Amino acid sequence: MVIQELLKWGSEALSGIEYSNPQQETRLILSQLLGVDRSYLYAHGDKEVSEEEKDKFIWIIERRKSGEPLQYILGIQEFMGIDFKVGNGVLIPRGDTELLVEWLIKFIDEEFDDRTYRMLDIGVGSGAISLSTAYHRPKGEILGVDISKEALMIAEENRINLRLDNVRFIESDLFSSIGEEYLQGFDIIASNPPYIPEGNRETLQKEVRMYEPALALFGGEDGLDYYRKITSQARKYLANGGLLIFEIGAGQGPDVARIMEGNGFKAVTVEKDLENRDRIVAGRS
Ligand SMILES: C[S@@+](CC[C@H](N)C(=O)[O-])C[C@H]1O[C@@H](n2cnc3c(N)ncnc32)[C@H](O)[C@@H]1O
Repeated sequence: MVIQELLKWGSEALSGIEYSNPQQETRLILSQLLGVDRSYLYAHGDKEVSEEEKDKFIWIIERRKSGEPLQYILGIQEFMGIDFKVGNGVLIPRGDTELLVEWLIKFIDEEFDDRTYRMLDIGVGSGAISLSTAYHRPKGEILGVDISKEALMIAEENRINLRLDNVRFIESDLFSSIGEEYLQGFDIIASNPPYIPEGNRETLQKEVRMYEPALALFGGEDGLDYYRKITSQARKYLANGGLLIFEIGAGQGPDVARIMEGNGFKAVTVEKDLENRDRIVAGRS
């Protein structure tokens, strides 16, 4: 078969599945498989592919057709201009979370200028928040924790690929393994914790429900368990005036702001995303 025929077959095969962009995904799959960029596919539509490449392409399309997220199949997701390795057991970093990192970068620029900032990232997943902050603002010392060994392995791989020596990851159930030496030791605590209410499990799209780790998704009955747990301990680990910043689910702004204020945080603000949904809550210790 030639490239053009495979592209046509692939987009038709994917056209029936929910939440996909058949043409774009098919081009991405074939370009990665052949190790060429997407423009090559247009220019060489009549080029014959090997039997092996064709079989592999069909196998990938079948997996995608059954609902597996493309990012897990290809093992990669771009976040803040960086390619992150992803895989089963780790949340696929979302575009929404870039807002939190952009907020952090602005905060670091305004408050630290040339000084070193110390940051804790709770629930690192692929390392998206810690590593992209460290990449774009290297003058920091960053500790990232996660309870999932799979997530930590992938985060560490990403850290090594990006050669970021100022980031360290450890296994910890929230603050449980963070030693006394860190009391009042962070200028920033950032977290994108699991925040989907348990009862919403069945309403999630198949790609998320069946393939992404439940440990990264659900935040108890009302979705707010992690905000309560993290906020109640955060001030112990924050320097005076330190920042606690969360990504939140749409509509959780007032509740999370109340939790933070109830725990003594000041200047608590809720930020909306481009679609006007609550997305970030931040406050100062
Ligand atoms: C929503 S994901 C966020 C991943 C990543 N920070 C991102 O933004 O893409 C939440 C992460 O919290 C981790 N997690 C869940 N419970 C935890 C706990 N008790 N202690 C530490 N991490 C936890 C999960 O394993 C998951 O990696």
